[in-house]
Amino acid sequence: MNPFILRHLAGEKSGRFPVWFMRQAGRYLPEYMKVREEFSFWEMVTKPEVAAKVSLLPIERFPLDGCILFSDILTPPYGFGVEIFMKEKQGPTLAKPLTDLAGYKIFRDFNPERHTAFVGEALGLLRSKLSHEKTLLGFAGAPWTLTSYLCGENEMDRWNRLSSWLQGSPEKLTEALKDVAAMTVAYLLYQKEKGAQTVQLFDTWLGEMPIGFFKEFYKPVLVDIFASLRKAGVPSIYFAKQAHHLDRELADIGADVLSVDSLVPLATWDTILPKSMALQGNLDPRTLLTDEPTVRRKTRFLVQEAQKLSRPVIINLGHGVLPGAPVQNVRAFIEEAQALWV
Ligand code: CP3
Repeated sequence: MNPFILRHLAGEKSGRFPVWFMRQAGRYLPEYMKVREEFSFWEMVTKPEVAAKVSLLPIERFPLDGCILFSDILTPPYGFGVEIFMKEKQGPTLAKPLTDLAGYKIFRDFNPERHTAFVGEALGLLRSKLSHEKTLLGFAGAPWTLTSYLCGENEMDRWNRLSSWLQGSPEKLTEALKDVAAMTVAYLLYQKEKGAQTVQLFDTWLGEMPIGFFKEFYKPVLVDIFASLRKAGVPSIYFAKQAHHLDRELADIGADVLSVDSLVPLATWDTILPKSMALQGNLDPRTLLTDEPTVRRKTRFLVQEAQKLSRPVIINLGHGVLPGAPVQNVRAFIEEAQALWV
């Protein structure tokens, strides 16, 4: 039998909404910080027992419905051999950024078995440890967001370069995005083969993309990715952050679920998307930094809004949980999300 999230997506009415949240295995959790003292970030990602153990930390503490693999969107290029440092508070930094568009061809040689076998092993361990009701989620970065991290040294340098490519050589940029997409599809299908039951594609920086480039160049790349996932029978979630300017364009990309941020209510998305697309979201992660009554009130409001929609909803945050979110607020969010609604 399929786990709860998948049954919910298939339209089964079970009496409550499923809930998990982005970055659930992260720095707000004291037990994560304990493991982090012992290992570097990349050690945690590449040691399958550690990655599996960390993925399970939030599941052991809370009654979450989904378990997301502990890893990063930079894992495929890291496994492939690109030197990437994870700097405290800055995020990923490359020793030698890929500043030449032709250089992205290297990713055509990506082989998940060879370069990211540790991910396959971690997923195998997770499948053996998770109860059958918990959905195991795999993930990858979307080509645009991943490329935005690979193309420069610091944030300013990266966005200046990406923007100049987009404006000066959109065709060449698209070829590079396709090379990254080929790696991404291979990586996600590998995760499916190793036990991931649904996969999420993170496009955290989609808000930076002009609508013209999206329509003409990027959308076909996404459509191909979701078509490949559909063909392989793996349900897909697309996290499109701050991309409301693209709302109608997102309706037919072929993802099963659209994961949205907290700026626009689910009810508004409901009027735009086809009924075949489920929604995921969208409590403001900063709500978890307030007090417990506020968390309960806001989450209840979200659940009541979701009840009125005629499509499945997975309750989540609008973006990743922030370090510093009190654990009792996280618990209150999950409790309210799972409160009965029929
Ligand atoms: O959701 C989960 O619990 C799974 C693990 C996960 C991580 N990163 C672990 C991580 C996931 C799904 C990601 C995705 C990711 N990584 C995204 C897309 C989602 C998003 O948050 O926008 C992006 C853009 C990245 C790139 C990245 N990795 C950044 C910008 C940072 C630094 C910011 C931060 O939160 O520290 C990282 C590092 C990172 N990835 C950490 C974790 C738990 C923190 C590392 C630490 O312990 O110091």
